[in-house]
Amino acid sequence: MVEINGKTYTCGLIGNPVEHTMSPVIHNNLADATGENLVYVPFHVATGLLGDAVKGAFGLNILGMNVTVPYKSDVIPFLSDIDPLAERIGAVNTLVRTSEGYKGYNTDMPGLLRAMKKDGVSVEGENIILLGAGGVARAVAMLLADNGASKIYILNRTVDKAQKIADEINGYVGKNIVEVKRNDEYSTLPQNVKYLAVQATSVGMYPKVDEAVIEDEAFYNMLHTGYDLIFNPLETKFMKLTKASGANAFHGYRMLLYQGVIAYELWTGKAVPDELAEEVYVKMLAAMNVD
Ligand code: ATR
Repeated sequence: MVEINGKTYTCGLIGNPVEHTMSPVIHNNLADATGENLVYVPFHVATGLLGDAVKGAFGLNILGMNVTVPYKSDVIPFLSDIDPLAERIGAVNTLVRTSEGYKGYNTDMPGLLRAMKKDGVSVEGENIILLGAGGVARAVAMLLADNGASKIYILNRTVDKAQKIADEINGYVGKNIVEVKRNDEYSTLPQNVKYLAVQATSVGMYPKVDEAVIEDEAFYNMLHTGYDLIFNPLETKFMKLTKASGANAFHGYRMLLYQGVIAYELWTGKAVPDELAEEVYVKMLAAMNVD
């Protein structure tokens, strides 16, 4: 690990809670491997102290920050600048120091795209079912639309929320690539194609690991791939049902790795090769006590 001396830079994570974060494993291993004199630490920021935290970080010459729940949107007013993608998504997970203050970025979505590429899952030309219409699903829908998805069907318990996202994206791209349905209406989707399904609801997350947002076998028979954004547990009920139908299933742990890798690249200006990222991934798996 990096030997701390007078020239050591600090990066960190602000959130509440931060106690279970894997980000120190990502960044301290990257610093070690790339020879950067940098340490990464968690900062638990109590309710009401976010502005003080950002101002204090700038005063302390902190190079960069990650931002996690519940502050990804709340942090925006405290930034000196924001990257257009983060602005469109409305969520910032990475702060990069500039002379005026911190510039906000979103590396979650580019991280998902890089993880999908690494997993061999492509978006371009795909017919995609997106499960969920919360803040994360909205950002994923944008990512999929920006990266050449042929058609995106958003399935959600509350159709109105899905419709809002569809209207926004269809307006942005200038054609109707997004359609919406209620979860139980999946059988009305075209049956002559196989789908990539992206699971962007919170259903199935620890501790309620025995739940999936759709449990019918018939739904999973429509898929060639199921990609769950959840990483705790590493194999969700959604993934088990996907695999049982003969389709490929992936979890969200690589997305977590690559959102960190991209943040690290922004802070240091150094490109992290995928081989190095994958070495760090092995350490993340070990830290989670799984294989
Ligand atoms: P996030 O910011 O993580 O996206 P969110 O905005 O609360 O969180 O969105 C959670 C998503 O999970 C929503 O799509 C939600 O469906 P509704 O829009 O109908 O609320 C979905 N979700 C959560 N619990 C669910 C459940 N028990 N059954 C079906 N969908 C559920």
